[in-house]
Amino acid sequence: MTRLFYCLSFIASILFISCNSTETAATTGVTKKDWDEADNQQVYLYTLTNKEGDVVTISSYGGTITSWVMPDKNGNKSSIVMGFDSITQYLEHPPYFGALVGRYGNRIAKAQFKLGDSVYHLAANNGPNSLHGGLKGFDKIVWDVSVPDSTTPSITLKYVSKDGEEGYPGNLNVTVVYTLSDDDGLKIDYTATTDKPTPLNLTNHSYFNLTGSPKNSILDHTLMIDADAYTPVDSTLIPTGELKAVKGTPFDFTTAKKIGRDIDSVPGGYDHNFVLNKKDTSLQKVATLSDSVSGRQLDVYTTQPGLQFYTGNFLDGKFVNRDGSPLNLHTALCMETQHFPDSPNQPAFPSTILKPGEVYHNVTEYKLSLIK
Ligand code: BGC
Repeated sequence: MTRLFYCLSFIASILFISCNSTETAATTGVTKKDWDEADNQQVYLYTLTNKEGDVVTISSYGGTITSWVMPDKNGNKSSIVMGFDSITQYLEHPPYFGALVGRYGNRIAKAQFKLGDSVYHLAANNGPNSLHGGLKGFDKIVWDVSVPDSTTPSITLKYVSKDGEEGYPGNLNVTVVYTLSDDDGLKIDYTATTDKPTPLNLTNHSYFNLTGSPKNSILDHTLMIDADAYTPVDSTLIPTGELKAVKGTPFDFTTAKKIGRDIDSVPGGYDHNFVLNKKDTSLQKVATLSDSVSGRQLDVYTTQPGLQFYTGNFLDGKFVNRDGSPLNLHTALCMETQHFPDSPNQPAFPSTILKPGEVYHNVTEYKLSLIK
């Protein structure tokens, strides 16, 4: 009898350990699975898991961050970037959801720019302007992805953009490295070289909602942006050239405030570039987003001079998030670290021209935590 008892308790404890370990069995590192096809090429989905068991998934199609799952203050897990579990929705071109954007993130006025003695013509895919790299930008291509070490949550994406692609000059070699740290920082490291001068403005276009669902508006999120000025725009969202002080305007996020507090005074909602206060190209904290319901906080660090803050003004419910909730107006927001819009046509803005022999290098890190 005693022997039977010991035997049963031994089996029970083995079962307990193995059940428990399946729950916490997140293996640190990278796994890869076939996802589907796009552009007649196989697309893979990469899962990056850190020591905390938090998980980011990234697709080779568009270099897209499809999800970033981390527990809220009550331990409930959900993705703080909005997106889809199947590639089908991505192939219907939701507006740049989670994607890498290039060659030129944001708008170029009248879809053209002059460089040297030549005028370059781009696709006018946003009214009279060119937006986010044109008809088939870096969000719609299949990147070549490698995994340097499968036990480290980091992947390297490469793409060679041919001379003349989407109207831009020069063969451009782009490398983007995504790394998830154990303290929930998602670092995006961009490098590029070219064989002819070309404008370049790379960014990532993730749509955040810290509650994990577009059921909840982002107007209740609190935001701080370390920017004393922004670039006002014309009716087609091209900067007028002015750097306008935010003080006394709805654009003042220098002290954290609810996004919804002044949004009604901004026709259409926020879709503006903020001129970051940082004075050099070192990696610095430029924004903090937080949500008291989930208890989550997202800090943004970047080497870039600007941040496009976009409150999902054109979301109209056409796309449905993975949790079944439609992505409606103001249900997700973007904080796109970048150079200022239309810089190739605005000589007073910091230059975005990459020349042969130079190395483009920028880093942005989104750091997720629970509010302390
Ligand atoms: C732009 C918005 C645009 C959105 C999706 C943002 O970067 O600023 O105007 O609607 O991207 O394309």
